[in-house]
Amino acid sequence: MRLDFTTLPPRDAYSWMVTTILPRPIAWVSTISAGGKTNLAPFSFFQGVCANPPTLMFVPVNTRDGAKKDTTRNIEAVPEFVVNLVPFALGEQMNASAAMLPHGESEFEKFGIASKPSERVRPPRVAAAPVAFECTLDRIVLIGEGPLAANVMFGRILVAHVSDDVMGPDGRPDPAKLDLIGRLGGDAYVRTRDIFEMERP
Ligand SMILES: Cc1cc2nc3c(=O)[nH]c(=O)nc-3n(C[C@H](O)[C@H](O)[C@H](O)COP(=O)(O)O)c2cc1C
Repeated sequence: MRLDFTTLPPRDAYSWMVTTILPRPIAWVSTISAGGKTNLAPFSFFQGVCANPPTLMFVPVNTRDGAKKDTTRNIEAVPEFVVNLVPFALGEQMNASAAMLPHGESEFEKFGIASKPSERVRPPRVAAAPVAFECTLDRIVLIGEGPLAANVMFGRILVAHVSDDVMGPDGRPDPAKLDLIGRLGGDAYVRTRDIFEMERP
C-alpha cells in the first residue's frame, strides 16, 4: 500500500498518522485562563526537544471547525503550563479530561481530579501525577491554518516534580514504577511493561 500525503484530505492524513506513529507519550497539560479558570487536557503529539535549554513540545491542533482549543487560548493569554505524565492508574481520569467542555469550565473540578499549586507557574499540577514539568512558553509555531492546523507549543522547563515512589535504586525513575501509558490509534493504549535492553555500539 502506498499513500500520497500530498493529496490526502487532512482527516485521512490524521487518521493514518495516529495509527502508524506509535506509541505516543501523553502530555496531560494544565493551563489557566486570564480570569483564573483552570483547564486540563491530554495531547499525544508530544516530545522532549532538547536539554540546552530544557525544552519540550506538544501540539493542540485546531478543532474540525477551525477553532482554537481551550489549551491554546489559555496559553496565548497566560503563557505558562504544566505537563503532567500519565500512569495507568490515572488513565480513566486522563481520558475523561479529553471531553470538550465549554471554555472556562475546569476539568479538574468537573471530573474531581485533585490538583496541587505549582511552584513557578500559575496553572496548578495534577496532584497524583508521578512527574510534572512546570513550563513557561518559549514560542508557538503555527503549521497550516484552519481545521486540524497545529499550534506547536514549545515550553521551557523550569522545574520538574518527580514522585519518590517511582525512583529506582540508581537514583533515576524506574520505568516499571512509573507505569506510564502511551497512545496507539483509536481508543487503544499501551502500558510500558514489556521492557528489553540493547547495548549501544
Ligand atoms: C490520549 C489523547 C491524546 C490526545 N492528543 C491530542 C493531540 O495531540 N492534539 C490535540 O489537539 N488533541 C489531542 N487530543 C484531544 C484533546 O485532548 C481534546 O480535544 C480536548 O478536549 C482538548 O481540550 P481543551 O479544549 O480543553 O484544550 C487527545 C485526546 C486523548 C484522549
